[in-house]
Amino acid sequence: MLTGNEIREKFIEFFMQKQHKHFESASLIPDDPTLLLTVAGMVPFKPYFLGQKEAPYPRVTTYQKCIRTNDLENVGRTARHHTFFEMLGNFSFGDYFKEEAIAWSWEFVTEVLKLDKDKLWVTVFTTDDEAERIWIEKCNFPKERIVRMGESENWWSAGPTGSCGPCSEIHVDLGVQYGGDENSKIGDEGTDNRFIEIWNLVFTEWNRMEDGSLEPLPKKNIDTGAGLERIAAVVQGKPNNFETDLLFPILEEAARITGSQYGKNPETNFSLKVITDHARAVTFLVNDGVIPSNEGRGYILRRILRRAVRHGRLLGYKELFMYKMVDKVVERFEVAYPDLKKNLENIRKIVKIEEEKFSNTLDQGIQLVNQEIDNLLVNGKNKLDGEVSFKLYDTYGFPYELTEEIAEERGVTVLREEFEAKMEEQKEKARSAREVVMEKGQDSFIEDFYDKHGVTKFTGYEKTEDEATLLSSREAKDGKYLLIFDKTPFYAESGGQVGDQGRIYSDNFSAKVLDVQKQKDIFIHTVEIEKGSAEENKTYKLEVNLLRRLDTAKNHTATHLLHKALREVVGTHVQQAGSLVDPDKLRFDFSHYEAVTAEQLAKIENIVNEKIREGIDVVVSHHSIEEAKNLGAMMLFGDKYGEVVRVVDVPGFSTELCGGTHIDNIAKIGLFKIVSEG
Ligand code: SER
Repeated sequence: MLTGNEIREKFIEFFMQKQHKHFESASLIPDDPTLLLTVAGMVPFKPYFLGQKEAPYPRVTTYQKCIRTNDLENVGRTARHHTFFEMLGNFSFGDYFKEEAIAWSWEFVTEVLKLDKDKLWVTVFTTDDEAERIWIEKCNFPKERIVRMGESENWWSAGPTGSCGPCSEIHVDLGVQYGGDENSKIGDEGTDNRFIEIWNLVFTEWNRMEDGSLEPLPKKNIDTGAGLERIAAVVQGKPNNFETDLLFPILEEAARITGSQYGKNPETNFSLKVITDHARAVTFLVNDGVIPSNEGRGYILRRILRRAVRHGRLLGYKELFMYKMVDKVVERFEVAYPDLKKNLENIRKIVKIEEEKFSNTLDQGIQLVNQEIDNLLVNGKNKLDGEVSFKLYDTYGFPYELTEEIAEERGVTVLREEFEAKMEEQKEKARSAREVVMEKGQDSFIEDFYDKHGVTKFTGYEKTEDEATLLSSREAKDGKYLLIFDKTPFYAESGGQVGDQGRIYSDNFSAKVLDVQKQKDIFIHTVEIEKGSAEENKTYKLEVNLLRRLDTAKNHTATHLLHKALREVVGTHVQQAGSLVDPDKLRFDFSHYEAVTAEQLAKIENIVNEKIREGIDVVVSHHSIEEAKNLGAMMLFGDKYGEVVRVVDVPGFSTELCGGTHIDNIAKIGLFKIVSEG
């Protein structure tokens, strides 16, 4: 009987023998702004499918870590739902197509996995005669076990637009004990647990456009995905994925820690499976750099972790346990994912802190709910209104379902519609708040300028003095003026670096520049006029306060050094979340799960100061995004970068994409001192 690890290995080996290049599993955080998480084996290859990038190899094989949370409620209840799962896949980028894809999957399933041929079924897309013919002619597959299905079953796409195509799926018939009768076939009612899909072969040859139409892709591709857990269950003859050797040791650990027993009653089984699945997902998410938060993937992680903690309570276990589960997960999966071991301590810590926070919330919340219920009952009432359940949720982060559960136990009904109405109200508020912000940003002064002149030019990387023509001026608040020139050496606030100050003058005009902002790449100078008046279409001298610019530059370059040192000392999960760089100081915002210790701060300071003493020249260069990535440049998540990016390099130490102004040699920073941390 093959173990999970062996199935993984044999799959990769099989396709390597068929001239596939083995790529390591990509991160769960995809390099793709349209996706929060890696949801399929093909995600890392989307640009190759769409023909946006040349594939480095025509044939690739992977085992890819994936997360899907669209069915979170079902995880634990069913035999085969997961959040985290592994997808085995073979891919062709304009190389082989249907014939080989089908023949090889057949060969692997029957000769390597040695599944019983008589128990296999396949589905093909309604109109895909070719696929059916290949199954019959090349694999000798019996026509009566080929079922045609429509778009919902046999068409695969990564999203509403993009690459897609018809698919053919291999299913295993687990037998009548799982539903149906002698004559049942795939798709018949009541056979969902009987016919198990183990492999999806997608013939990716279409691109779905915005308007819904299909255009042929530049090349025909193959994308296949086989769920490792399912295959293991079938090969090992287990009734559900949790009993395979991939997951059962983790489940047993959950049972041991919580003092419960698997197989005794459905509720306990449910909770143990939830904890098993979620412990794995949480471990892998944190390992890939996700930190619990209230949005995006951080929120997905938080929800999964909280759901697991709740199930711990349902098992009657009140101590912290999820962080201990991490050990078992790492032990099971380090063979296939060696980086887990390296990050073990870090993962445990992050999980523990979040678990602790939530446990406190739970205890507090349970108390609050009980108080509210006491009040009701004393007054002879038995309905908890939406105001209360919403406050618990909104202010204390207490899950609504728990409020409901506790209330029910005490014979009190929670008015769900009222809770939902409150949620809706809240969303509405958030929406209108956003709309107001949008209105404020619309400035007809800028719009008019843009329509007439387009953007203005920044010359401040090369010089701090320039001559420029005034194109537009407008009186602003408090007697100040807004001036826009055709070009300017003044840096406008961005990337945390404050705008330049300085002077603008001519023979009969002089003004102090207080601040510079930009909108749509139009540089707007806020000035205080000291002499004369500003006339459009006249030429002026623009002079940046050089000392202030240099002080700011020192702080900006130091920000890069700090960023790098932080990653070295605290961990590579540290990512810049914001910053302020002015002539006097710099502030660096980042997310981390606990306060940085005094020792760590001292270490960071030392690293930066030692670097400064090396007196390294700062090198600025321009690259395409691709080149910059290959240089290992740090890119801030959420930043939008143009086609050509500016790379600021302190060779041998820090490489970052950055539009700021920097000093030419880091020795000029002088001394770096951390004065506070919060
Ligand atoms: N992309 C397809 C899937 O996720 C096959 O890999 O099922």
